[in-house]
Amino acid sequence: MEVKCYIRSFPYSREYRLKKKSCNIAVMASGTGTNFVAIAEACHRGDIAARVVCLISDRPQAPALQRARSLGIATHLIELPSKPGLPSDAEQELVMFCRSREVDLIALAGFMRILKGPLLTEFEGRIMNIHPSLLPSFKGLRGIGQALDYGVKVTGCSVHFVDRSVDGGAIITQAAVPIAEDDTEDTLAEKIHKEEHRIYVQAIGLFAQGRLRREGRRTRILSASDDR
Ligand code: GRF
Repeated sequence: MEVKCYIRSFPYSREYRLKKKSCNIAVMASGTGTNFVAIAEACHRGDIAARVVCLISDRPQAPALQRARSLGIATHLIELPSKPGLPSDAEQELVMFCRSREVDLIALAGFMRILKGPLLTEFEGRIMNIHPSLLPSFKGLRGIGQALDYGVKVTGCSVHFVDRSVDGGAIITQAAVPIAEDDTEDTLAEKIHKEEHRIYVQAIGLFAQGRLRREGRRTRILSASDDR
């Protein structure tokens, strides 16, 4: 069976067709990697028509790397100076690496460097990120802490496409999490993480089925029976 994977972006029309049985994913993570594991396990169980082909990290000590090794998933470490940022030549190298792995989709999961160059061009409409707030509120670092400090009563998480802005790309899906009176950053993070794992898998599954259609800032989710 051929799975067709379309990304239609307007005003310019662009389409990505996946001529394979499943969607190859590269996950990029700098930290713990619980979202990476949720995605990898969902693929392994066959819940979504996708396969994690590698875990890319910029931190040699990232627990995500160890988790990938124990799941038998290939790892790739980008050697970079500890200062923030991702130099353009490093991004170009990642483009080559992802091409060599026939990557269809890049899923950022706690990757702490901002993509600005060649990856965004090569994978336009094919890079997703998960952010721990209801965007467009509380972009950037400490999304959970920012929400608590601000005093909102409901926060949550968002999966969005990555563009040249920080946490500003078209939103794919979101989940709301009410804040309890006694919540701390840690207890709230735990609740948000649970929702993150659910909606990230869901968003990737929809991508793999070709059910995400971008219309300007809006991402329409097509029903399974829609003619694509
Ligand atoms: C998540 O909270 C995600 O929203 C943010 O980074 C965190 C990664 O967590 N972008 P984990 O490493 O997947 O556990």
